[in-house]
Amino acid sequence: MTIASPPPTPAAAGRARSDDPLAVEAAGIAFANPIILAAGTAGYGRELSGIVALDKLGGIVTKAVSVAPRVGAPAPRVADFPGGMINAIGLANPGLESVRNDQLPWLLDHLADAPTRVIVNVVGSAVEDFATVIAGLEDVAARRSAARAAPDAYELNVSCPNVRAGGMEFGADPATLRAVVAGARAVTGRPLFVKLSPALSDIAAAARVAIDAGANGLTLVNTVPGLVVDVEQRRPALGFGSGGVSGSAILPVGVLATWKVSRALPGVPIIGVGGVASATDALQYILAGATVVAVGTAAMRDPRLPERIIADLARWCAAHRVTVRQLTGALEWPA
Ligand SMILES: Cc1cc2nc3c(=O)[nH]c(=O)nc-3n(C[C@H](O)[C@H](O)[C@H](O)COP(=O)(O)O)c2cc1C
Repeated sequence: MTIASPPPTPAAAGRARSDDPLAVEAAGIAFANPIILAAGTAGYGRELSGIVALDKLGGIVTKAVSVAPRVGAPAPRVADFPGGMINAIGLANPGLESVRNDQLPWLLDHLADAPTRVIVNVVGSAVEDFATVIAGLEDVAARRSAARAAPDAYELNVSCPNVRAGGMEFGADPATLRAVVAGARAVTGRPLFVKLSPALSDIAAAARVAIDAGANGLTLVNTVPGLVVDVEQRRPALGFGSGGVSGSAILPVGVLATWKVSRALPGVPIIGVGGVASATDALQYILAGATVVAVGTAAMRDPRLPERIIADLARWCAAHRVTVRQLTGALEWPA
């Protein structure tokens, strides 16, 4: 394994204006605005081009990338219920080779002149897989001569509830979590965000383990384990059985996790995610301590929603004469 190179400067692509009320900075990365697309809900960006103005977003987190292609879980993979969605995709993805040779170069080229940040979501079935994926992507970045050769950051998914191996147990066991993060840290100088499950008994303790092992920030939260039953069939609604609950039902869960971690680890950047469907929802995460907010399920249903959230956030900040930076962690909660 190679030793980490020094942290890079943000991509040479268009930079966020720091005097803009929406501009934020997390782990040394400048975001033009705090609204990004959540992992797994926007593919690798290509599917959305033509529908969504990716260059207007703060960033995009890609679908998970594993060492080898994964076929994922049996159908049906998603089911709706009042208040949200349950999914067991099983981290289906085309694998490292395809992502580094095709998907990621397309996304980076597409955003070559845009300030939109690109964060690659990484997953593994073994501890060393995370470092293997990141090293593979770094290797290609080193050989690419394009204006934008590399992602801005990586997000380690140690919290997927719907796979048989390499899911939530990676984030739930401190020694494994430490090994995953340290392994990834050894192969890249770019910022690492660790994505945790809200089902952890002590999410702040897990966050501390991740930061101590070399992570730069946290993504809070992944989906909540759940079960939706098809009563006519007397079977689970999903082919896998149980799944991960997302959408508005989990908004308060993610906001509380964000608050707990931001209190326990002041100054550590947090990407808040879970149930965001409006600027008000995003503001809840920001006040609870998130610097950046990701939108998943709601954007799958309405791909133009994140652009409207950004516009609404700008209006809200103007009306209240504040910047997003002034709001981060500004929740008043008397003891
Ligand atoms: C269809 C689907 C696929 C997902 N795939 C991933 C993934 O590949 N990696 C990951 O870390 N999270 C994945 N997630 C979790 C989301 O990134 C997000 O944490 C979760 O859905 C909560 O946000 P939301 O309520 O806005 O959807 C997925 C969620 C959904 C609904």
